[in-house]
Amino acid sequence: MADDSGRRTVGTAPLVEIRGVTKSFDAVRALQGVDLTIEEGTVTALLGDNGAGKSTLVRCLTGVHSPDGGEILFRGETIKLGSPDDARHLGIETVFQDLGLIEDLQVWQNLYLNRELTRGFVPLRVLDKKQMIANSATILADLDVNVPNVRATVRRMSGGQRQSVAIARAANWGTTLVIMDEPTAALGVRETAAVEKLIGRLRSNGVTVLLVSHDMDQVMRVADSAWVLRRGRTAANRRMADTTGDELVGLITGAIAGDAGA
Ligand SMILES: Nc1ncnc2c1ncn2[C@@H]1O[C@H](COP(=O)(O)OP(=O)(O)O)[C@@H](O)[C@H]1O
Ligand SMILES: [Mg+2]
Repeated sequence: MADDSGRRTVGTAPLVEIRGVTKSFDAVRALQGVDLTIEEGTVTALLGDNGAGKSTLVRCLTGVHSPDGGEILFRGETIKLGSPDDARHLGIETVFQDLGLIEDLQVWQNLYLNRELTRGFVPLRVLDKKQMIANSATILADLDVNVPNVRATVRRMSGGQRQSVAIARAANWGTTLVIMDEPTAALGVRETAAVEKLIGRLRSNGVTVLLVSHDMDQVMRVADSAWVLRRGRTAANRRMADTTGDELVGLITGAIAGDAGA
């Protein structure tokens, strides 16, 4: 569906609305009243210089941090996310900037962390290790991830491989919203292309994606629209069709004055 400005208007409300969200860490005012919306079924980029508040906002959206003030609405209803489990129950999955993998576990164990498959019936239920290992190999193959063995321990993997495992986990479980905080920062050209393809695939499947990225070419390639944060405030919102990489860089640095929220 599209309104007369051509904007995608799936449903009656955006998937996520952030209204006046604030978050401080002692004296650091990381978020000083952020307003933004994420339209359902789109790829929305979240841009901003280092320290602008992107990761803090991502953590508020995934139940890691509780905002000090403001509101988060999901499908039009105010929600309180007390933990990552709350976000998970809404189908929100995140690739955190620090990846959130457990180093001493194997790849398949990380993919199934907190959602282990079991077989049999209580009280004889057992972990279905064989199935999880087989599924993990399929999940990674589908993503074109270069991890030779799903039984490898994460500790022994390269940065790119770890990043791919974290992305595979979020993409596999995220049914509503997949949030990626700088997902390709550690990846090579081929792996980056695979992640961009995956983002396109999630979108085709109706999954909404929030993408934090510093790569303007990537943002121009994969996003439908972008929000720019500057020093903890919303500075601008652009549809990709109406902007350029240069304009986005200007909005990020402040060389171009913002116009939204702030
Ligand atoms: N857990 C924390 N404790 C203290 N300060 C933090 C914490 N997380 C973020 N900050 C501070 O909040 C600001 C925004 O950080 P962040 O959200 O990581 O920005 P970005 O992801 O846009 O680079 C920075 O000044 C950062 O140092
Ligand atoms: Mg960050």
